[in-house]
Amino acid sequence: MNKINATTLALIFAFFSTFGATAFAQGPKDGELKFPANYEEFPRFLNGIQKPKHVRDLFINPTGNTGRAGKLLPDGTILVMEIYNAKLDADGNAIKRPDGKNTKDNLAKIYVMQKGKDWGKNAPAGLKTGDWIFSAFSPDGQPIKVDYSACRSCHLPLDDKDFVHRYNEFFNKRDNRN
Ligand code: HEC
Repeated sequence: MNKINATTLALIFAFFSTFGATAFAQGPKDGELKFPANYEEFPRFLNGIQKPKHVRDLFINPTGNTGRAGKLLPDGTILVMEIYNAKLDADGNAIKRPDGKNTKDNLAKIYVMQKGKDWGKNAPAGLKTGDWIFSAFSPDGQPIKVDYSACRSCHLPLDDKDFVHRYNEFFNKRDNRN
């Protein structure tokens, strides 16, 4: 082996032992998840959640959909929440459809939770929600600025449901389908 090759190998080794190991072993932090561009093909988690001025649709990737009630969702689970604006009247109230539900307007943003082995190590102190990492995107999949400690604080109390707000409803609906 000539000198250049030995030096190059030493540099590559040094690079991976410092940066490579950290990047691969620890996974992403909040705001660093890859946008799940094909999420619309995921199984539906829940549809048409009504908020005063929004409608939310939830998706779960096929890995997550193998989850079992009463257990943690598996590593590799991706949960996606589409947040639509509701159409508002002149007074700023949601315009209701004949069935009493909000009328969907444009897709405003997309919230994602994804879990991977030991990713919880990347959570800020006191805000570890299992191995979940949070990210928020614009409708075209670009990261948007949000306060991730707020996401965590609001999901944090749900440790008996793997930090997933609609955990019970999801399993009830999925497992009792005709
Ligand atoms: C004020 C409390 C609150 C905050 C802050 C919050 N969430 Fe949630 N989240 C909820 C609730 C409640 C639901 C269930 C859907 C519903 O009722 O709107 C939910 C549902 C979700 C879901 C679908 C899975 C589930 O838990 O049912 C994802 C994904 C999600 N949130 C991501 C985020 C992200 C990312 C942020 C920060 C950008 C965030 N959330 C901030 C309360 C919150």
